[in-house]
Amino acid sequence: MPFVMTKAPRVTTKGELTYNTYLRVPELLSLQVPQTQPAHHDEMLFIIIHQAYELWFKLVLHELENAVRYMNEGRVLRARHFVDRVVEIFRLLVPQIHVLETMTPAEFLQFRHALNPASGFQSVQFREVEFAAGLQDERYIRFFKNDPAAQARLRARMEAPTVRDAYYSLLRRLGADIPEGPWSEEDEERVLDALLPIYQNPEEMLPRYLLTESLIDLDEYLGLWREHHVRVVERIIGHKPGTGGSSGVGYLKSTTAKKAFPLLWRVRTRLDV
Ligand code: HEM
Repeated sequence: MPFVMTKAPRVTTKGELTYNTYLRVPELLSLQVPQTQPAHHDEMLFIIIHQAYELWFKLVLHELENAVRYMNEGRVLRARHFVDRVVEIFRLLVPQIHVLETMTPAEFLQFRHALNPASGFQSVQFREVEFAAGLQDERYIRFFKNDPAAQARLRARMEAPTVRDAYYSLLRRLGADIPEGPWSEEDEERVLDALLPIYQNPEEMLPRYLLTESLIDLDEYLGLWREHHVRVVERIIGHKPGTGGSSGVGYLKSTTAKKAFPLLWRVRTRLDV
């Protein structure tokens, strides 16, 4: 399949465009509103780091949707191109969390109570990223019971094809023996058998192999983000409960084992020389 580029769109600019009007910089810079008075010095860091993550999550979702679209069209390398973009974004998102460690635990406590009960737990876009990748979990929708717009977004993500669905449908269309989901344990064994040739003969199925490895990268980086986040949280608040009502570090550690593509990890165990 050729690597087809998108066509240049029509330009809609009216009047003279500047950097500030195009990027809405004044509006963007007016969005950091502290909850403390006088504002605690470190609250600016806390707000900006979260907002920066939310902006990147928006792009991640945009790119994952594109990857799904291209997989559905059978354009393997084009789909991989956008998965790789998401992986590169996550490569940035993982170390970014450590900027927070420049805040002393005591100083964070000076304004933490002002944020209660807001929590990263309520990041709709983070949950959408999980759902879009393939980690759909209906239970999380309940936590947004006071936010119908958030619930609607998550329900839409529950119904939309995930990257995982699109990947396995693509393999099926390429001739692999992939059963329709949901999979029983026996079905999973069949899927593992169907995945083996990709790893045994990567050169013969290079586009498929490259896409598969990019999906493992995506899973790895999502996991690394979770691990770095929980370390930073432990360093800053120890084992205090979260403002979102969870046990805090205990809960976050339990999420680090989540995988959107568990079978791509398991197939490695099955490989033989
Ligand atoms: C001082 C810094 C931070 C602390 C102390 C902290 C603490 C926590 C805690 C305790 C939780 C568990 C839920 C709860 O009960 O509240 C949580 C969840 C979460 N936090 Fe943070 N966090 C920090 C920074 C960040 C940043 C910068 C982000 C970037 C988006 C973030 C995103 C999330 C997300 C998405 C969750 C939900 C994770 C899941 O359910 O799998 N957090 N955080």
